[in-house]
Amino acid sequence: MALILGIESSCDETAVAVIDGLGATYGARVVAQRIASQDAAHRPYGGVVPEIAARAHVEVLAPMVAATLHDAGITLEAIDAIAATAGPGLIGGVMVGLVTGKALAMAAGKPLIAVNHLEGHALSPRLADPTLVYPYLLLLVSGGHCQILEVRALGDYRRIATTIDDALGEAFDKTAKILGLGYPGGPAVERMARDGNARAVPLPRPLLGSAEPHFSFAGLKSAVMRAHETGLHDPADLAAAFQQAAIDCVLDRLRVALRLSGPVSALVVAGGVAANQALRGALQAVADDAGLRLVAPPLPLCTDNAAMIGWAGAERYALGLFDPLDVAARPRWPLDANAAPVRGAGVKA
Ligand code: KG4
Ligand code: ZN
Repeated sequence: MALILGIESSCDETAVAVIDGLGATYGARVVAQRIASQDAAHRPYGGVVPEIAARAHVEVLAPMVAATLHDAGITLEAIDAIAATAGPGLIGGVMVGLVTGKALAMAAGKPLIAVNHLEGHALSPRLADPTLVYPYLLLLVSGGHCQILEVRALGDYRRIATTIDDALGEAFDKTAKILGLGYPGGPAVERMARDGNARAVPLPRPLLGSAEPHFSFAGLKSAVMRAHETGLHDPADLAAAFQQAAIDCVLDRLRVALRLSGPVSALVVAGGVAANQALRGALQAVADDAGLRLVAPPLPLCTDNAAMIGWAGAERYALGLFDPLDVAARPRWPLDANAAPVRGAGVKA
């Protein structure tokens, strides 16, 4: 049995978890977890403000570690290793979590595991479903990331697709902003879309049919804005039309990626947008067509959390993959360092 303390602070969630690396079920594996969302602090600005985020992490993290250990009924002594997100993300926040992890590791004489936040998302489906084996095809869609990865083994990731502009969650958030639905926007757009008619507003599907599997959502977002500005459309119809166009793009890109990927055991979705029920339903069809099982983790594991960091730590712990106490925090940290740059792409991690 390996007990791992996981710490996450790379964006606007402060989270701590204790993971039992050898438990058999999801419930048994996550011994305790706490999460504090900063949504309220960022809402007036319509997006995450890095300075506010870093300060908020500082305020709550240390007491949250103590409270989570208390929930787990253990002290730091019982922990086998400390796993903290070391990037990619907002560097101020990442440093708060990583430095806290280093201090705990040093004080308790425990190994430190510097976890890539994207690896946390990529491996979290294995925490939810212990039968999920490597290799699998992963659709990773969140506010900051939009990638299709062939997850071959721990630490062995081939990036098949990325976005050349916005991430999918970012497109949901911007659409929410256009429609005046507040921040964070994904869940609000999904709720509103339920009452709308997706066919009422024609919207573009960027890169649909393109031979490369990459994503683009900036043009879709601009089209939503132009359609909204005409004042002719019901916001619910716009939300539904946006969501349908975005999903159509994802399905088309995934079908191309499946052709480019090696053999995989399952189609897996992770990241905050994986919480979207319409997307989950649509992905099932792609998986069925490909003869693959669809693995979609429970919602609390899809959005940012510390259980996924603790779990990635547990997988690394099992292989003895530890990091020195002077390991650096990294604002950018691609999972596949060999991935070729994509023409037109920005600087997303
Ligand atoms: O993984 P996550 O918590 O943070 C990042 O690492 O980015 O993902 C947050 C993103 C936000 O863009 C949010 O709007 C989106 O996930 N999201 C959703 C839904 N729930 C969260 N997007 C669409 N539908 C949802 N139900
Ligand atoms: Zn994330």
